[in-house]
Amino acid sequence: MSKVPPIVLNFKAYSESAGEKGMSLVKTCEEVAEETGVGIAVCPQQVDLALAAEKAGIPVYAQHVEAFEAGSRTGYVVLEAVKASGAQGTLLNHSEHPMEIAAIEAVIRRAKELGLITLACANNTEVSRSIAALGPSAIAVEPPALIGSGIPVSKADPGIVSDSVEAVKNLDPKIQVFCGAGISTGSDVKAALELGAEGVLLASGVVKASDPRKVLLDLASGVP
Ligand code: G3P
Repeated sequence: MSKVPPIVLNFKAYSESAGEKGMSLVKTCEEVAEETGVGIAVCPQQVDLALAAEKAGIPVYAQHVEAFEAGSRTGYVVLEAVKASGAQGTLLNHSEHPMEIAAIEAVIRRAKELGLITLACANNTEVSRSIAALGPSAIAVEPPALIGSGIPVSKADPGIVSDSVEAVKNLDPKIQVFCGAGISTGSDVKAALELGAEGVLLASGVVKASDPRKVLLDLASGVP
């Protein structure tokens, strides 16, 4: 299974990332990835997942998925549908969409069976360690207080990043570790990588920027 690239952009439910604006953002991410050689994955709004997966030449992940199997359910996104959309994986347990531990375990196990990537969010080091025991592809540690703040976790709370890296890698060195919250510059990315993270998960710094392309180019400059 392929690895999660160093920059993962979560479109969230922002009006700036809906419909055509979302597709244009996908295109911009693709162009910047191609120009810089730095991998970028996108997590479009759920309703745009299939369209983004069809149009994008870069990895596309769902923002969330339910643990249920496909079947008689209404209004839920299940792993089988994520796979059928052409997406390569999913975020899960984002602090804006938290999940029960049993559901996290079921999604990780079933995603593996389906060959899908799982990027599981954790709000602190203890949760990073607990989720690592379930064997996701990657973990993104994000302190909720810094989300959307513009204050980068990699500079404001470096300990949570390095401690999560240590806790996860001690358990299984194959699990990639990311960090997120308040990341918006190449220097924030560089600081994250210096702490041992393999990449960043971010949203508002790009989605709400007046010039997302410029921000993405700067972010990419932080990856050696
Ligand atoms: O999923 C990414 C996220 O929660 C961080 O958000 O806006 O602080 O980059 P933001």
